[in-house]
Amino acid sequence: MQKKTLLITGWNGMLAYDFIKTQSEDYTIIALDKTACDITSYSHIEQVLKQYTPDIVLNCAAYTAVDDAEDIGMKLCYDINTLWSYNLARATSYSWIDFVTLSTDYVFDGTKEHWYLPEDACNPLGVYGMSKYLSEQLVKRENPMSVIIRTSWLYGGEKYGENSGVYKNFVNTMLRLSETRNELRVVSDQYGIPTSCVDLSHALSQVIQSIQSFRGDIIHFSNSSLSGGIHWADFAREIYTLNGKNTSIQECSTQEYPLKAVRPQWSILLNPSTIQLPDWKDALKRYLTSSHQ
Ligand SMILES: NC(=O)c1ccc[n+]([C@@H]2O[C@H](COP(=O)([O-])OP(=O)(O)OC[C@H]3O[C@@H](n4cnc5c(N)ncnc54)[C@H](OP(=O)(O)O)[C@@H]3O)[C@@H](O)[C@H]2O)c1
Repeated sequence: MQKKTLLITGWNGMLAYDFIKTQSEDYTIIALDKTACDITSYSHIEQVLKQYTPDIVLNCAAYTAVDDAEDIGMKLCYDINTLWSYNLARATSYSWIDFVTLSTDYVFDGTKEHWYLPEDACNPLGVYGMSKYLSEQLVKRENPMSVIIRTSWLYGGEKYGENSGVYKNFVNTMLRLSETRNELRVVSDQYGIPTSCVDLSHALSQVIQSIQSFRGDIIHFSNSSLSGGIHWADFAREIYTLNGKNTSIQECSTQEYPLKAVRPQWSILLNPSTIQLPDWKDALKRYLTSSHQ
């Protein structure tokens, strides 16, 4: 049987890094970085699709600087997250190519103090969340067969201390800070679920392999958490416990640690699909105890 061709955008990013690393040889992968695509040019996207004739496009490209999106990065954020996805959805639809794109828990306002279902009403609080919410709307309109994957609190690539492949994420930031700090203040009134890019990549592969069963769906993929959502201070404590660090965590409120972008207070994604991700503590342990999971 002929192998399917999967085209990935944003291949220098954290999720794309782990996705490419975890793939078997089930499909031919074409990974494009931002130099290989003009994000706002529809004709260029068409040209890229014609050149590579993929069966599936996985869109990992994004503007993810949540705070900068509030001011200096606003235009870029809407260009990349909204316009880019819209163009890709349109172009893939015309060419009958399956389209899978990533979205976020930040499409919700976080006032629902328990699990968010895929069909729950969105009401983003910041520019990044709004850019993703608009992207979801446009993608659904332009290519109704698209698959939209919402995820939360991603960490991946190599862990802090490795030579290369280290990305900015909460786990790596905590590890870096523990080298110079005995005590850290971490927010304890925002609840979510951390998600390993490796586990998300395996789940994405399953979706891609059975794409016919998921067309038109919005799917929530976070690591599992039997106890529901955790806050950032819980997450930080688990990182230090697993890594044997002595830095102590002082809990603080969002008000005491203000950032430019307002985050949802509760953004715990419920995943009713047949594909489930492992427990978040197990995922974190794997990330911290091996350089290649
Ligand atoms: N990180 C999280 O906590 C989180 C949470 C929920 C959802 N998500 C979503 O998950 C997806 C993957 O996130 P991630 O953390 O892997 O993001 P990331 O590490 O920031 O990677 C995004 C990639 O997009 C590329 N990119 C930026 N501008 C581009 C452009 N103009 N044209 C083409 N590519 C461009 C970046 O390239 P350069 O590196 O060269 O700039 C980078 O390789 C995104 O859709 C994100 O919104 C992330």
